[in-house]
Amino acid sequence: MTDKKPIRILSGIQPSGALHVGNYFGMMEPAVALQAEGEALYFIADYHALTSLRDPEALRENSRRVALDFLACGLDPNRATLFRHSDVPQVTELAWILSTVAPMGLLERAHSYKDKLARGLPATVGLFSYPVLMAADILIYDSDVVPVGKDQKQHIEITRDLAVKMNETFGQQEQDGRIFKLPEARIKAATETVPGIDGQKMSKSYGNNIDIFGDEKEMRRRVMSIVTDSTPVEELKDPAKSTIFKLYSLVASKEEIAAMRERFLKGGTGYGDFKKQLFEKLWEYFAPMRKRREEILADKSYIDSVLKKGAARANEIADQVMKRVREAVGLR
Ligand code: TYM
Repeated sequence: MTDKKPIRILSGIQPSGALHVGNYFGMMEPAVALQAEGEALYFIADYHALTSLRDPEALRENSRRVALDFLACGLDPNRATLFRHSDVPQVTELAWILSTVAPMGLLERAHSYKDKLARGLPATVGLFSYPVLMAADILIYDSDVVPVGKDQKQHIEITRDLAVKMNETFGQQEQDGRIFKLPEARIKAATETVPGIDGQKMSKSYGNNIDIFGDEKEMRRRVMSIVTDSTPVEELKDPAKSTIFKLYSLVASKEEIAAMRERFLKGGTGYGDFKKQLFEKLWEYFAPMRKRREEILADKSYIDSVLKKGAARANEIADQVMKRVREAVGLR
């Protein structure tokens, strides 16, 4: 027997729109698989969404929908904790404390801030210090592993840098010389950047998303509008360069993938046919989750009860960690 503590797994998703294929394969599927490996905590990042969403009804509505989608995708509330970010307001206190040691230069190098400005989001202090709040989200649960897509990699690096800064500045009194553990990003190579219909990273803000719980007609329309090159039907096509093939590889069996690869390399099949095949597979792949989603929706109080239980557990851990942090910095 070993008395080693189970690892703690944590991740979050912004309630800024409908769940798309990129979110699912980049984060949700790995997060659901990790439920079996330790104590998993997953949250709906509503504080973060405030940096881009200024519609209170939409924020509330989206937050419930993300909870519903996560549960439909296999999050098991008996194994994992699902909660709303804003149900643990201590996280904003930790963000403030972290911001007092966060070097400006570190945040100025953050890609996501620059990307968001380029997309027209207002340059607010909240948007700039987003990585500090994200570091607090992770550190406040003593997280070991953080399953995310590649676009979040730099944020986890910043989190580690801030944990080291805190340990160096205030950790001397702690038993092992540190206040925080250093969390690790868990990024699956095969799904680190799922492409959207234009071949760029799939993202709601780029308008290239395929939503997984949209209606059938809409999913078909999105798949049929995947951008392709102008290779004629009879010529062979390169599967490695094809968004259709990349997406198909996520949802088809090994044999089906091999068969599509062969047809790409043989020539004689147009992109339209490949798109139809992709749509059929995508629709079929998410069918059990759509069914589960309907079942959850039928039970009006289920989501609220899951979130309530989740908030209680998240608060329990956050309170313990904050006690340690407040003592270490001299606030108590
Ligand atoms: P968000 O809400 O943009 O995305 C949620 C998760 O989905 C992943 N993802 C993708 N992965 C692969 N390919 C894609 N095209 C794709 N699009 C999205 C993201 O990498 C992410 O894992 N800042 C975070 C939310 C957050 C968080 C945290 C995550 C807040 N605090 C603490 C982990 C730990 C975000 O905006 O993700």
